[in-house]
Amino acid sequence: MPFEWDARTYDALPLPHVAWGLGVLERMQLTGSERVLDAGCGTGRDAAVLLERWPDVDLVCLDASSTMIATARERLGERAEFVVADLTERLPIEPVDAVMSVAAFHWVDDHQLLFTRLAEAVRTGGRLTSDCGGEGQLMILDQALQTVTGSPMTLTRFAGVADTEAALRAAGWKVASVRLRPDPLRLDDPDLLETYLATVNLGGYLAAMPADEHRPFVRAVREAMSEPVIDYVRLEINAVRG
Ligand SMILES: C[S@@+](CC[C@H](N)C(=O)[O-])C[C@H]1O[C@@H](n2cnc3c(N)ncnc32)[C@H](O)[C@@H]1O
Repeated sequence: MPFEWDARTYDALPLPHVAWGLGVLERMQLTGSERVLDAGCGTGRDAAVLLERWPDVDLVCLDASSTMIATARERLGERAEFVVADLTERLPIEPVDAVMSVAAFHWVDDHQLLFTRLAEAVRTGGRLTSDCGGEGQLMILDQALQTVTGSPMTLTRFAGVADTEAALRAAGWKVASVRLRPDPLRLDDPDLLETYLATVNLGGYLAAMPADEHRPFVRAVREAMSEPVIDYVRLEINAVRG
């Protein structure tokens, strides 16, 4: 289930998402006159870069978190359309020519439903270009969470290449390429690591906990990590609507 994000703290972090977003923009093959959906746009960082490069793109920024959308709106003003919506429900937008997405799809459990919703929103021949967490990601954090909570990590789904290709095809997409790419992030400063974990990786856990339990929980998880590394593995998707 989607939850609210601390958009301001998120935006101030040293996010590897910046590079992942630039990678997605490189892969999109835009001409500059398309209508584009940023699915799970967050604070609108990638949308701002996109509009700098292609100012005539008709951009829709969609996210389930109203705090993320509020920050994106502050950043982009009139330059984009903003929608608070859940990617697993029929999207309340006019059709688009292309979909981009950065670090969002692993928050959705049912990828076939997600890809179906996106396929419904895209014109035939439109591209889907995305980056999200993939199979093998966050083993260190998962181990730490098992130590602290007694259970494996929940709320995220890190898909592999074969299951992603199958889900895309079943939802009406032609697969151009799907690949996994390790991209570990080391954060030696314990305070920064705790803020990062609380804001980026553990928000779903904290949303279900009283506020006074947040700090001790995040500290316990950080101390249980075998090394101060967020062992990201990125799943990069390039597909075309059939
Ligand atoms: C890690 S943030 C990435 C935001 C932005 N794309 C970036 O790269 O900074 C994940 C985003 O996905 C959104 N999200 C998660 N599940 C969602 C869903 N079911 N529908 C819409 N947005 C969702 C969250 O609200 C959050 O803004």
